[in-house]
Amino acid sequence: MTRDKLHRVRMDVPAIILLIHLTQTHIKVMEASRGAEEARCPLGQFPCGNMSVCLPQALQCNGHNDCPNRADELLCGDNIGLADLISEKLRNKPVIPQPVTQSECFLDKYPESCDCTQTDVECVEVSLQEVPVLSPNVTWLSLRNNKIQTLPDMVFSEYSALERLFLQNNSLQFVSRDAFSGLRSLKKLFLSENLISSLGPGVFRELNQLEWLMLDHNPISGLSADTFMGLHSLMYLSMVHTSLQQLPHPSFCQHMPALDWL
Ligand SMILES: *[C@@H]1O[C@H](CO)[C@@H](O)[C@H](O)[C@H]1NC(C)=O
Ligand SMILES: *[C@@H]1O[C@H](CO)[C@@H](O)[C@H](O)[C@H]1NC(C)=O
Ligand SMILES: *[C@@H]1O[C@H](CO)[C@@H](O)[C@H](O)[C@H]1NC(C)=O
Repeated sequence: MTRDKLHRVRMDVPAIILLIHLTQTHIKVMEASRGAEEARCPLGQFPCGNMSVCLPQALQCNGHNDCPNRADELLCGDNIGLADLISEKLRNKPVIPQPVTQSECFLDKYPESCDCTQTDVECVEVSLQEVPVLSPNVTWLSLRNNKIQTLPDMVFSEYSALERLFLQNNSLQFVSRDAFSGLRSLKKLFLSENLISSLGPGVFRELNQLEWLMLDHNPISGLSADTFMGLHSLMYLSMVHTSLQQLPHPSFCQHMPALDWL
């Protein structure tokens, strides 16, 4: 063994112990926060605030008001809903939803067909066929219900501040290996309701901050053991209504040490 390798091995042992410890803490907090919800809603669903309505978990913070009282989009803020709750619980501070007070746009570049509020851009159902060009400090981008078919290499590479990306209900068939390169702040990615049949190894490898990944309703039939490489922060992975017959080799989980919900 070379000196360099020996050094790396020594570094890795404490790192692994730390990851396991953090994961267990996460799970405990998640269980505590879910206890109250589960009493009212079946597994996989969440309650609309204090109303007696339960909706599928995937609708929470998806960029669309699904609860009659909008509670599903309330705790989303500039972070993610469930993760906000967890981190606040860890710090023992209550979560207070921040209503948007300023509606002016802080971006100088965005398509006319889209709406912009502060650094949020919403391009919903405007027949887009490709990802639009935006100012680099966009933090929230919804491209739902459009006609985008492919995500070429580097298509999001300028958007290093982007935290949430909504691509549900497009016609996505092909996701190139470097499509998500540069999205180093991304926390939530929605790819549900598309035509994706496979996701190659390493396609998410730069998404080190990603906490939620939604792949529901896609004809995905093949995943490689390395498809989820790099997703060190992923807590929630949803693959409902896909064509998967089996999960890849169990080692695929090693790429996601923080995974709590599959
Ligand atoms: C739910 O909360 C809102 C606001 O806090 C309150 O006005 C309403 O009366 C509550 N509804 C129920 C059924 O508790
Ligand atoms: C966005 O970026 C531009 C230039 O890159 C900068 O002038 C502007 O202040 C930024 N806006 C915000 C809200 O950070
Ligand atoms: C999907 O997008 C199309 C427009 O491209 C729209 O007509 C349709 O209602 C959307 N479906 C859902 C479930 O939102």
